[in-house]
Amino acid sequence: MNPPARIERAATDDRGRRGSAMPARLDLVQSASGLFLGLFMWGHMVLVASILLGKEAMYTITRFFEGYYFFGQSYPALVTAIVAFVFAMFIVHALLAMRKFPGNYREYRVMRQHKRALRHTDTSLWFIQAYTGFALFFLGSVHLYIMLTNADNIGPYASADRVWSQYMWPLYLLLLLAVEFHGGIGLYRLAVKWGWFESDNPARSRLWLQRFKWALTIFLVTLGLLTLAAYMKIGIEHADRLGERYESHVSISAPMQQRSLS
Ligand code: HEM
Repeated sequence: MNPPARIERAATDDRGRRGSAMPARLDLVQSASGLFLGLFMWGHMVLVASILLGKEAMYTITRFFEGYYFFGQSYPALVTAIVAFVFAMFIVHALLAMRKFPGNYREYRVMRQHKRALRHTDTSLWFIQAYTGFALFFLGSVHLYIMLTNADNIGPYASADRVWSQYMWPLYLLLLLAVEFHGGIGLYRLAVKWGWFESDNPARSRLWLQRFKWALTIFLVTLGLLTLAAYMKIGIEHADRLGERYESHVSISAPMQQRSLS
């Protein structure tokens, strides 16, 4: 069933009366913003994990997003614009997700009773997604606000100093776990909801999707922990030179040599 058909069906009730299509539209926007954020987080992991390849690799990526290789000069405002867009998507997604939270303790208790009675994997996953989503309201907002206001302060030393000397690592540890579980379950639920990757045997394809989801979560959490450990190690080594920026040792082309401090 394609999405417009679903919306059409939602717009008529059992007696054939037309209702509002708004709930279905909001669901579509929630799915689309979730898909964007989930895919963004995969890209984010690759970029941030570049530190595992060395300081120079992370430095090069930072410069790339500041437009240095296009304009011959760094414009951190470009990073600010990207963060502002991601932050806006984050807020829209959180706002729409709030519709699904129980409104009071009685509703919460009923939902928990259903969960216990059903003993259904996907229902239990929904609860993990709701708890981690709630945590992301706070953890994600802190990180995004700091990125928004410190776009010119990203680089091998600047980031490592923030992680270690500015005590961001406990927040990143919780954020990493929350975002990987939330994103993994979210993308899995999207695939089930919209019938992506469904085969002739839906129970079997759902099982495969679940296995793939867990494998991906384990991989991303491991990569995230290694990445965090790398920033902490550099941060510890660099603690007595807090604030000093990374200096590139690679000369690539004339305009790039003009500004080699990160
Ligand atoms: C455009 C928006 C974003 C930018 C530019 C950005 C940039 C960065 C950078 C540069 C780091 C390295 C540490 C540091 O410099 O403080 C980092 C780490 C991290 N970010 Fe983001 N980030 C963005 C969005 C997000 C979002 C939306 C989330 C999740 C809600 C997130 C989760 C994390 C986590 C968990 C780490 C820790 C690294 C790890 O353990 O792998 N980031 N981010």
